[in-house]
Amino acid sequence: MVKESIYLPTLAVPHLLNYMNNLSFLREALRSFRSTGAIARSSPALVQKLVEPLPQNRPLNIVELGPGDGCVTRAILEKVHPQSRVTAFEINEAFVARLASIEDDRLRVLGIGADQLTHHFAPASVDYVVSSLPLSMIDKATKAAILQQAQTVLRPNGRFLQFQYALQDYGLLKDYFHRVSVSFTLANLPPAFIYSCSLGMV
Ligand SMILES: C[S@@+](CC[C@H](N)C(=O)[O-])C[C@H]1O[C@@H](n2cnc3c(N)ncnc32)[C@H](O)[C@@H]1O
Repeated sequence: MVKESIYLPTLAVPHLLNYMNNLSFLREALRSFRSTGAIARSSPALVQKLVEPLPQNRPLNIVELGPGDGCVTRAILEKVHPQSRVTAFEINEAFVARLASIEDDRLRVLGIGADQLTHHFAPASVDYVVSSLPLSMIDKATKAAILQQAQTVLRPNGRFLQFQYALQDYGLLKDYFHRVSVSFTLANLPPAFIYSCSLGMV
């Protein structure tokens, strides 16, 4: 009896924290739906699929676009080599403030738009761009600028990783990247497609 009374609250804590995180994500989504583009943060299954291609055996220079409250950021940091660097571009101030609670020297958070990529990175200097940007909600000109800049900053063997709830931007991604492969997960609300794009130069 005593054991159970300790065990049950302990079990409940992670669920409670997750629930509270989702509530504060929902609050931001309702406040600025156009830029957030989702009502819930990505599920652990989607996050894992998105970061799956990142190799662990060498230091990487990684750019993250649209980290939100950091569910993908944390998964990247957990997975990659200890000498990697991760630079996150996020326009929502509330999310930028929450990202500040991630204590990891490898992470730099910039409270600016993804279309500022080439102001911060030289051509061919980035290994992976991991993006959760709501592409379908971003205006055409900004989206083109972001993809163009991602193409510019990626190394010849680099990759652009992105998810989307439908395949609206498959054709557009093909305009910027030579090879675009797509996988899918049902384990997200809503289910999502995951693009892995390479320049096809090597
Ligand atoms: C669908 S949420 C993804 C959040 C989190 N990465 C996840 O997967 O749950 C999209 C995020 O992109 C951010 N965002 C939208 N447009 C942006 C832009 N132009 N530059 C940087 N971040 C942007 C939003 O503020 C939001 O945090």
